[in-house]
Amino acid sequence: MPEISAMPDFSPGVPADRLPAHVAFIMDGNGRWAKARGLNRFEGHLRGVKTVMEVVENSFRFGIKTVTLYAFSTENQTRPAEEVAALMNLLKTFIGEYLPDLLKNEVRLRVIGDISWLPEDVGAAVKNAVSRTEKFSGHTLVVALNYSSRDEILRAVSAYAKDVAAGTQATGTPSWETFADYLDTAGISDPDLIIRTSGELRLSNFLLLQAAYSEFYFCDTLWPDFSKEDLKKALADYASRERRFGKTGEQIRR
Ligand code: IPE
Ligand code: IPE
Ligand code: MG
Repeated sequence: MPEISAMPDFSPGVPADRLPAHVAFIMDGNGRWAKARGLNRFEGHLRGVKTVMEVVENSFRFGIKTVTLYAFSTENQTRPAEEVAALMNLLKTFIGEYLPDLLKNEVRLRVIGDISWLPEDVGAAVKNAVSRTEKFSGHTLVVALNYSSRDEILRAVSAYAKDVAAGTQATGTPSWETFADYLDTAGISDPDLIIRTSGELRLSNFLLLQAAYSEFYFCDTLWPDFSKEDLKKALADYASRERRFGKTGEQIRR
């Protein structure tokens, strides 16, 4: 990634105040991209990593502060063992190769999901990158790894109940803010925009609670083909929407 500040004229095509602060991507379609070319599914994942780097770089240059990537769901564990192993290897290589870029551009890496499940070497690489970028605050890259929303909620409820039992948390109904601090996304703003590629119209257990007021954008492009122009289209669509958060349109426009 070249330095983010190096291209001040890089425009998303929408006014800065209509830009989402946080965009989350459900990166889907790697397998179908490969199949359409007579390639092994792994080739699709490999090409998908290239897209990841481009999309993250473009998002930050456009002025988006936080990018979340759904990289591996808890349910993806049930894929054929060789695909899971290949994805884990790819993840480790990606983290190793990408860390210098994150450091250079002062991007904080956060991980959501249950990473205790990851193979030891992969988990160690992830933890190292997270701790080495901990001090940065300008841009945040959140990677959902072995993540499922229901799993996250169960872990949060159990940690919360433990604190109540220990007396470090009050009994009674907590405020949303208090409970949200137990989620993997503690301290990360909710996604303003969630983009899913490959034509699938579902969340697949992704950020169910955090998406309460997110805007959704679905496109048919398969993830390996998702381009800067696709991203600009999604941002233009987002910019045209009126987010009302329960209020009337008149209240919002006043
Ligand atoms: C997304 O692509 C990547 C992961 C879920 C790891 P897929 O592998 O789901 O690709 P399709 O949906 O089979 O085309
Ligand atoms: C969702 O994609 C998970 C990721 C993008 C990592 P899937 O391809 O696993 O989702 P489903 O199974 O089609 O819902
Ligand atoms: Mg898929």
